[in-house]
Amino acid sequence: MKRTHYCGDLSLANDGEIVSICGWIQRRRDHGGLIFIDLRDRTGFVQIVFDPAISGEYFPLAEKARPEYVINATGKVSKRPEGQENPNMTTGEIEIYISEMEILNSAKTPPFLIEDDVDCDENVRLKYRYLDLRRPELQKNFKLRHQLTMKIRNYLDGHGFWEVETPILGKSTPEGARDYLVPSRMHPGEFYGLPQSPQLYKQMLMISGMDKYFQIARCFRDEDLRADRQPEFTQLDIEMSFIDREVIMDLMENMMAEIYRELLGIEIKTPFLRLSYAEAMERFGSDKPDLRFGMELKDISDIAKDSNFKVFAANVAKGGVVKGITVKGGEHFSRRELDDLTKYAGIFGAKGLAWMVVIGGEDKVKSPIAKFFTPEQIDAILGRMEAEVGDVVMFVSDNYDTTCNVLGNLRCEIAKRENLIAPDDNQFLWVVDFPMFEYDDEEERYVAKHHPFTMPMDEDLDILTEHPEKVRAKAYDMILNGVELGGGSIRIHNSEVQSKVFELLKLSEEDIHEKFGYFLTALQYGTPPHGGIAFGIDRMVMLMAQRKSIRDVIAFPKTQSATCLTTESPCDVAPKQLRELGISLRETDKN
Ligand code: AMO
Ligand code: AMP
Repeated sequence: MKRTHYCGDLSLANDGEIVSICGWIQRRRDHGGLIFIDLRDRTGFVQIVFDPAISGEYFPLAEKARPEYVINATGKVSKRPEGQENPNMTTGEIEIYISEMEILNSAKTPPFLIEDDVDCDENVRLKYRYLDLRRPELQKNFKLRHQLTMKIRNYLDGHGFWEVETPILGKSTPEGARDYLVPSRMHPGEFYGLPQSPQLYKQMLMISGMDKYFQIARCFRDEDLRADRQPEFTQLDIEMSFIDREVIMDLMENMMAEIYRELLGIEIKTPFLRLSYAEAMERFGSDKPDLRFGMELKDISDIAKDSNFKVFAANVAKGGVVKGITVKGGEHFSRRELDDLTKYAGIFGAKGLAWMVVIGGEDKVKSPIAKFFTPEQIDAILGRMEAEVGDVVMFVSDNYDTTCNVLGNLRCEIAKRENLIAPDDNQFLWVVDFPMFEYDDEEERYVAKHHPFTMPMDEDLDILTEHPEKVRAKAYDMILNGVELGGGSIRIHNSEVQSKVFELLKLSEEDIHEKFGYFLTALQYGTPPHGGIAFGIDRMVMLMAQRKSIRDVIAFPKTQSATCLTTESPCDVAPKQLRELGISLRETDKN
């Protein structure tokens, strides 16, 4: 078998050369006497030509060949005749006259055409994922993913990091999702937990004196899936000793800038904007704000509290708020569209969506609630909202968190519907100063907002016990275009503070000992101050490749219901295997 070139690398520069290529047949056209084939490999396509006068004994093979057959062919590169060029192909100025060819393998007719924008149910494509992956747009994503991890490794190596692997079979570190468990044959009735992240391992590596660690680590979380969530995914996991958060944020934003410059040719501005969690919620209604468009939230509680609109006045009197957004030029919204947006707001708990269309003139606004406001109040509201004739302002009134969350989601939805987002805009930022805890109504206790190993801000340590709700954490998230790319924190390096945080989380003495005893012990043997971060590599590639789902950048992704359609897993196992593991299934647990 011979190969001198890849298909997509050939050009006019090779004119006259004898080349050998290998690949899959994309298309075959029989033009009475001449046979044209588009041959594909991972670099692209090239057109090869079979002319009986040149191909001789090989011509009948070309007649036999079908799409997805695998061939090896040799021939002379020629400039295409005037007018025959194909500007849609990078190799469109040339073709190869084949003098020798071998069919290396035949192929069944694939269940869908191997081409971009394929019109085929995703489940079928996932079942035949190896065929789906032949499509150029997917191959491009994997090339990018490879380049990204290479770049990351080089960057971190250059800054003195060591790549260290940590166990997959181990004791799970909680990150807020359910664990995947693996039964142990040697210890019947006992289980390993797959890591939700390598969090505690990397902290122990700091205790070990590794100083700067990174790992491209597989993580496992049994949680509800979405377009940017898979049950197993890949993190770029990082930890450093003797640093404060400035060091790590600086290092990470420079890494992103280098990646974007060198892989995408895009300059991103550093240092990134930083917003406190409080400001992000106040202005954008989200802890992962999308800054590619405006529509910032404005508070009109002070004006609305004196109005005759009972809902608003009563909510403010109860400690709630009235906040709104201004949709520039939103006057074109029909009643139906406004109703639809009201329904959308309802998904996030809004009890209504009040709106005013700014029409100018004497009435100033058209709105079902205009009658409850004096002309002065309307002026004040439009002034606060920076609204002009032709705009629509929309208001939500509820408690602070619900109001912000509803409007935060609404502004993103409207930006999408109104096409306000430039496709190649990249808005990076850091969100910092997160609350340390949030109250979980279901569990009736505080839970860690980031994870329980995060250091509280120095100035908040004193109120840790009395006012856990006011304590802020030394945590930081990197956000790109409304997606959380990564998150991390400075860690607790003192076993007393760590024990106190566990207590605040209402973990029992027994729980603490059983789950984290080994770690609390480790903390007592000379722990350096340390901190780190982890990025979702899948999300990073998804955004870099401008894809909507991380499934497009994972070779064998799982479906929404966490199954692998290619290998049909999860699946039953032999009774013998279960017996060895000391496991028996109840009749009711079986599908
Ligand atoms: P966190 O839980 O924020 O932090 O995870 C870090 C990043 O991992 C990505 N990510 C996911 N990607 C795909 N599918 C998922 N199910 C999924 N879950 C998370 C996100 C997220 O920002 N140990 C800490 C990090 C640290 O403190 O250093 C951690 O795991 O992009
Ligand atoms: P109502 O008086 O209930 O018919 O409401 C009048 C308008 O106010 C409607 O457009 C409702 O959607 C809106 N509205 C009602 N409750 C709220 C609320 N809590 N926040 C925002 N708008 C509301």
